[in-house]
Amino acid sequence: MEKVSKIQAQITELRERKAKLALGGGQDKLDKQHKGGKLSARERIGLFFDPNTFQESGLFANQRCVDFGMAGKESPSDGVVTGVGTVDGRYVNTASQDFTVFGGSAGEVHCAKIVESMEASLRTGVPFVFFNDSGGARIQEGTYSLAGYGKVFYTNTQLSGVVPQISLICGPCAGGAAYSPALTDFIIQTRQAQMFITGPQVIKQVTGEDITAEALGGPSAQIDRSGVVHFVAENDEHAVGICKRLLSFLPNNNTQDPPVLGGSYSLEPDYSLDEVIPDDAKHPYDVRDVIRKIVDFNDFMESQETYAMNIVVGFARITGMPVGIIANQPKHMAGVIDIDASDKAAGFVRFCNAFNIPIVTLVDTPGYLPGIDQEHRGIIRHGAKLLFAYSAATVPKITVILRKAYGGAYVAMCCKDLAADRVYAWPSAEVAVMGAEGAAEIVFRREIDSAEDKPATRKALAETYRERFSTPYTAAAARVVDDIIEPNQTRVEIAKTLEGLVTKRTLRPAKKHGLIPL
Ligand code: HXC
Repeated sequence: MEKVSKIQAQITELRERKAKLALGGGQDKLDKQHKGGKLSARERIGLFFDPNTFQESGLFANQRCVDFGMAGKESPSDGVVTGVGTVDGRYVNTASQDFTVFGGSAGEVHCAKIVESMEASLRTGVPFVFFNDSGGARIQEGTYSLAGYGKVFYTNTQLSGVVPQISLICGPCAGGAAYSPALTDFIIQTRQAQMFITGPQVIKQVTGEDITAEALGGPSAQIDRSGVVHFVAENDEHAVGICKRLLSFLPNNNTQDPPVLGGSYSLEPDYSLDEVIPDDAKHPYDVRDVIRKIVDFNDFMESQETYAMNIVVGFARITGMPVGIIANQPKHMAGVIDIDASDKAAGFVRFCNAFNIPIVTLVDTPGYLPGIDQEHRGIIRHGAKLLFAYSAATVPKITVILRKAYGGAYVAMCCKDLAADRVYAWPSAEVAVMGAEGAAEIVFRREIDSAEDKPATRKALAETYRERFSTPYTAAAARVVDDIIEPNQTRVEIAKTLEGLVTKRTLRPAKKHGLIPL
């Protein structure tokens, strides 16, 4: 028999060990995972990274708990696969929880591995992507597990605003586990996943309410109702696709500009834009039609699509340059700005500013939403977030007033005085403190009260107010609008302005950080 050299025997042992560890909690548990419509931690990584680029760290890591029968128990990679690879040629660090190992629960070693991967992102200035599939804090490890989570949250916060952080929720994400995603920039949740702080059983015990896990923390609950989630995916493959598309708009870190796509781009006028605004000012239209006509290849990646639908936010490119778009949506609640819309838009503006993505704002709003509920829930505080976010943003800011720009909402939607670099108005723009009827009621109250024919007088005086403010010429005369443009020229004008703003520099007073109303 041929003698096997020592090193050959060692290599064989290494291969066998690696193959066994790569199976995680074993074939049975992998089969269960697949039956539930989920991929494994490693399959997700395989889909995400460019072929043969993933370099793993900590495959051999193991838990070291001695309580509750855990002493000496194997926990392959301690239930989380970590490492670095390239996605469309750009480096990304990752952590991918392995539900087949103690339910992907987070113990001391598990959390230390996640933190190490995040710190690698910080050191090298590249994004961090976290695949979540976990039963939360590892119950057997008690305090060590909680401390581990604390370190994960702390590190999330260190990365915030320095490198993009994206969380994919691919399975359970319960208790403390939900707070790491909440500290990242974008959350993508699959239809197989649930996210909540306290599960149905605890809710039943505490409040007596009966609710299924799906209704409590399924993707529609967390996007439509809470606004925690930004994108819903049909399954793991879809979630990975969304994540890659999102990364394509983002720079590696806050010191870089977002990646500009080369190629030649059409800058012809689009005359169909002239037909978007209905003749009757009360009629709605879908602002996404305007967005798609302005951006490259009609390609718009909308975030939080079904949450606070009265405002639309998302990424697109104009002549290859990534931009963040914020637009009132006349089709939903007439495009009014309420608490949720303010939070949604302010968060998006903050993200764009942190990562050097120019902001294009399309305005058509009758104002902040009046009402007792909004006042009592704090529209003042929440509405102020939008004012703060736009004012603090130093990236190029371009605003186009399509139609209504009334009241505080005119100011909040990135007006000239919040340091917009350029404000355009379409000929259909109306810039005023409030709608003509409401304004006439207040300004001309005495005239209306003393008139014989009150309705006719009210109507006539409202018309007087409307004539003064229903065109953009008063606003342009006041220099709050830089230029009035034909709608068909919008893409051309924005593209030119963006190019001229590439060198924008803004000096701000030094401070630790501003205090956005929270
Ligand atoms: C240790 C856990 C675990 C956990 C699951 N497992 N969660 N082990 N700690 N937190 C183990 C199970 O014992 C089981 O082991 C395996 O993982 C798979 O779990 P199943 O229950 O069989 O799977 P499934 O039916 O799909 O249910 C998944 C689940 C459920 C919904 C996540 O396991 C569950 O409710 N787990 C507990 C969730 C929880 O309360 N977590 C603590 C949150 S408190 P075996 O050996 O049988 O395969 C928290 C505080 C942190 O996170 C605070 C920080 C601020």
